Parts: sequence; C-alpha cells; structure tokens
Amino acid sequence: MKDRESVAALDRDDPLAPLREQFTLPEGVIYLDGNSLGVAPSAAASRAAQVINDEWAVGLVRSWNTAGWHALPGRLGNKLATLIGAKPNEVVVTDTISSNLFKVLSAALKLIEKRDPSRRVIVSERSNFPSDLYIAQGLIALLDHGYTLRLVDTPEELHAAIGHDTAIAMITHVNYRTGYMHDMAALTRHIHHVGALAVWDLAHSTGAVPVDLTSVDADFAVGCTYKYLNAGPGAPGFVWVAKRHQLHVHQPLSGWWGHEAPFAMNPTFRPAHGIGRFLCGTQPIVSLALVECGLDVFLQTDMQTLRRKSLAMSDLFIELVESRCKEFPLELVTPRDHAQRGSQVSFDHPHGYEVMQALIARGVIGDYREPRILRFGFTPLYLRFVDVWDAVETLRDVLATEAWRAPEYAERSAVT
Ligand SMILES: Cc1ncc(COP(=O)(O)O)c(C=O)c1O
Repeated sequence: MKDRESVAALDRDDPLAPLREQFTLPEGVIYLDGNSLGVAPSAAASRAAQVINDEWAVGLVRSWNTAGWHALPGRLGNKLATLIGAKPNEVVVTDTISSNLFKVLSAALKLIEKRDPSRRVIVSERSNFPSDLYIAQGLIALLDHGYTLRLVDTPEELHAAIGHDTAIAMITHVNYRTGYMHDMAALTRHIHHVGALAVWDLAHSTGAVPVDLTSVDADFAVGCTYKYLNAGPGAPGFVWVAKRHQLHVHQPLSGWWGHEAPFAMNPTFRPAHGIGRFLCGTQPIVSLALVECGLDVFLQTDMQTLRRKSLAMSDLFIELVESRCKEFPLELVTPRDHAQRGSQVSFDHPHGYEVMQALIARGVIGDYREPRILRFGFTPLYLRFVDVWDAVETLRDVLATEAWRAPEYAERSAVT
C-alpha cells in the first residue's frame, strides 16, 4: 500500500531531480500540462533579454551575421536532432507543425508521383490531430488531382488501410487525446513494403519518448517545440527530411530563406542544397532563440532516462487513480502497455470538463479534450513523484466533495 512517504522516497532516488531547478515553476501549482505548453526554463528570461537588449537593440541588422541569427534554424535543428535520432543537417527549426506538414505532404506527393502516379490515397486516423487532417484536406483541394484522404477509426485498422494505392501514410506517433503510441518501426516497414512514404507527426513524442527516425528509416517528420521541449508559447516547430530525399524534393512555399543564395536576389527560385529548402521566410528570432534554452536542459540527460521516469510516473498515476478514486466513474483511456503509451494519461469522466476546471482552481493543471477526456501530461524533467501523489489526492477531493458541480466550472473558455 503506497502512501505519500513511500512516494517521496522515489524522488530521493531520482537521478533527474536536480534538473527541476532549471525551470521556473509557480508556487502552489502541480503542472500536468507540459504536453500542451511546457514550462519556462529559468534561462529563458535572460536569454530573451539578451536577444532584445544586446542582439536587437545594439547589434541591429548586423546581428543576422554577428549573433548567428541567420544560421539559427539549422543550428537548433542539429541540437534537436539528437532527441529524434536524426543526423546532422536533417532538421530545421521553423514555422508551425501545420505549415511544415503542408510543405512535407506536398513534397512527398510529388516524390511518389514520379515513381507511381497511380497512387492517390493519403492514409491517416480520424482521431489524428484535426489540424493535420485539415492541412491534408486543403492540399488535396488545391492539387485537384483526385487525391483522397482515407481515415481509419482504430490504430489496428491502419495496417490494412495502407496498401498499393497509398501514396502517403500520415501518422501521429502519439495520439494527442488518448496517449496511444504507434510502433513506428513496424508501421514504417509496412508503409515501405507497399511502396508508400511515411510522414510522422512527432508533436507528442519529441522530448517525451525515445524516437529514432534513422533506424526506423522514416521519410519525413514534423513536430513542435512548445510542448515537451519547453520552448515557449507559439515557438517554432521543426521539419525533418531523410537525407536520401533532400535533394529530390521540392516544397511549394519556396520563399527566399529556402533559396540557395537568398542575397543574390535572383528572380528565379533555386532550392538550397539540403534541409534548408524547407525554410520559407524570415524567422521569428526572439521566439526561435528561446528554443535553445529548453533544448539545453535535455542535453544534460538522455531519452532512455527520461522514458524510465515518465513510465514510472504514469504507472503510479494510473495505480493511484484506480485505487484511491475507484468509487468514481473514471475510465482509463490510455493503454496500460508501455509499448503503446506516450507520456500522458487520459481518463474519461462524464463531467470531464467541469472536473478539470475544479482541479485547475486547486492548482492541479491538466487539460480537457472532447469528448469527456481529462488529460494529464508527465514531464520527467521537472515533475516529482510527490506531485503525482498530491494531484491524485486533489482529484479525489474534487470528486468526493463534488466540488466540480459549482456552476462556474461549467463555463466554457475559448481554450480548454
Ligand atoms: C499532434 C499535433 N499535430 C499538430 C498540431 C498543430 O500544431 P501547430 O499549431 O504548431 O500547427 C498539434 C498541436 O497541438 C498537435 O498536438
């Protein structure tokens, strides 16, 4: 039988515990939403001040060269590469997942069209993050070449849905709502076996679970930095293209930052000789610079150590919720199998929205996703095992006292 003391002992043995000091965490808050917006690294404020007060205010336009602004997307891409098993010069940090996905899907469709023009299907999951589906729908409408989007309802159906008519399988590795994690290696093998290309969305994987794009032999990937990488609200995402494809692909947002010689000011677009061709326009330097503060904390550990603690935390959370809140209608949505679990745990509750608002009012911040899902993210860099204990005790209190029935918790905010 666990109690708070036995859980606190886990923190004393935690090799990652000292890293918590490298983040700014508000008093009285247990933050279980790093899978939506990561917390602020302590270094971020001074780095922002440096970019604004020195590099911008004093360096002015010279800073594109002297402060290395121009090289930032590739330099940060190389740092991030180690977290996703990418090689040097395969990643750039830039733009949003949605816009990077547009570039990548366009490039992949062109590539496959050259090999086998009969392939006209993009396969994905109905439960994929909606923006991914919207981008695919937008591109299909734009191209008007008879492409269709085939959506499956369960992960088990994916295999059969990806066949000889498939151009691209566009898959989110860890599902944003359920936390279900696909077997990236097995799916990529199957996708290649039928002659299609694999496009992975790593939004809930990067910095959350070990990923090795090189060993699984994936083709394209996109992801963000504002969740587990703690880069800040709206910080740029990233795009990865396997080296073998880079010189053979073209993306349609061919802005000057993707040109081989932007300052030649040539009227004709010629793509850069590598991953740089996936850049488009001028980068948001203040926001981009802060990506490094989050990445630098990751470089002090490794994904295997993080994964061990992440699973220990999510196991503990599931065990405590199921033992200490067993009289309440909470149903686990996230797989119990470690091989199928990302770094979040979701529970279904008939009044999920209200329960989450009551939790947030008590300082336990998770979030809510339609329909009825209470979502809790586990971020081993800064969370303690006692936080898991305290969060479950708060949940138990909210449910036992029915505090969630207060009318203010039913009011819907724009962002849930
Ligand atoms: C799995 C997934 N894909 C795509 C997106 C959209 O990302 P962006 O807003 O950077 O385009 C999100 C956002 O949370 C996401 O979770």
